[in-house]
Amino acid sequence: MDGFTTRAIRAASRAPRVDQRPTSVPIYQSATFSSADAEELGAVTTGAAEGYVYARLGNPTVDALGAAAAELHGAEAGFAAASGMAAIHLAVGSLVAAGDRIVATRNLYGTTRSLFTRVLARHGVEVVFADPADLVAMEGALAAAPTRLLYLETISNPTIAVADLPALAEIGHRHGAVVVVDNTFASPVLCRPLELGVDLVVESATKYLSGHSDVLAGIVAGSAERIAAVRALHVDTGATLAPFSAFLVLRGIPTLALRMERHAATAARLAAFLETAPGVARVLYPMLASHPDHAVAARLLPSGGGMLAVELAGGAPAAEAFVDALRIPERTASLGSIHTIVVHPPSTTHRQLSAVELGAAGIAPGLLRVSVGLEDADDLLADVAQALRAAGAAAALPPTTGTTSGAATAATPGAAAATTPGAASPSRAPTGG
Ligand SMILES: Cc1ncc(COP(=O)(O)O)c(C=O)c1O
Repeated sequence: MDGFTTRAIRAASRAPRVDQRPTSVPIYQSATFSSADAEELGAVTTGAAEGYVYARLGNPTVDALGAAAAELHGAEAGFAAASGMAAIHLAVGSLVAAGDRIVATRNLYGTTRSLFTRVLARHGVEVVFADPADLVAMEGALAAAPTRLLYLETISNPTIAVADLPALAEIGHRHGAVVVVDNTFASPVLCRPLELGVDLVVESATKYLSGHSDVLAGIVAGSAERIAAVRALHVDTGATLAPFSAFLVLRGIPTLALRMERHAATAARLAAFLETAPGVARVLYPMLASHPDHAVAARLLPSGGGMLAVELAGGAPAAEAFVDALRIPERTASLGSIHTIVVHPPSTTHRQLSAVELGAAGIAPGLLRVSVGLEDADDLLADVAQALRAAGAAAALPPTTGTTSGAATAATPGAAAATTPGAASPSRAPTGG
């Protein structure tokens, strides 16, 4: 008879055979999968046969999320990675090499900007930023030199700019670029970029897809060929999603449309309320007629979604007092959650940008980004109203030394800033989502 530990290992490793299909995807919490014989192991390891051997090469729960992402986006294939940034890195990294050039929206999520200007630039990739609302400027940036990749965001962080994806994809393709879109703010409920001509879509599944602020994950969806390249890069780089994390995202997906409906209904009410509230300089919500991209949003999106931005006339002191006075929202990073989350981008998500870069990205000192949660709308509106009164009182005080204060400044529109390989801007701090 085998020894105790040999028997214990065997006893605890026997996965039950289940003939009835479970109605949720099981969590395959295993790093390794055993083959019947050496031949099968060789075939599965080299990809000659379908199956599992080692979780960095594939895991059934994680693959189920990749397949779900493909289905939600109407794609041939999908892939799930350890975070939104991992997904973005895989999508972009599977396409560019040293000497290539990227044209990217200037309204880029701060960490994606860092990936481009600090990481990819060091690897010899040139990045040029342009205003996606200015199609002539975008075309000029693409025409200036051969461009491998056009990188966009459907709805951008934090100014809630809405990109005209069909027009931009057409321009990008005309200049030979592969078009990649970060659809995190929209989710596949509001927008499915592949249906609009885009080649690869990425999302931070940390946000709306999972929806509960309890997991980090990212997805990529596109053609089978492009996703095979993403998968191959992942095998070599290893930002592997944990099976339990994949399960949590899968658990969020069935309620995504219901959650988006509620996020959007409350956000629309809040935006309308803020537009006439005292102390508010500007409200950015795609379904407000005053939004610069309203016509694009009305054409492309079924609703304005759950994200809005509000610029307080009192600048940074008012913004900080507003955040401090709020009773219901969480004072944290991230978005797309059950919780309403209010952030001050200049001091959080976009902290690594210089004052000039902030201005070029349209981020005024008094700008706040609001991810509207699922709380009762009446409670949120009452809370925001009292916080605005607190912000008004704070803005009336003389500024104290050492604050990040300043009156609201106008954005510098249209400016295209270029970075060259190796000319990365220094890091000021890591940022949250
Ligand atoms: C638009 C956008 N893309 C990507 C990311 C990165 O996602 P993750 O934090 O899951 O890496 C974020 C995070 O906030 C985001 O807002």
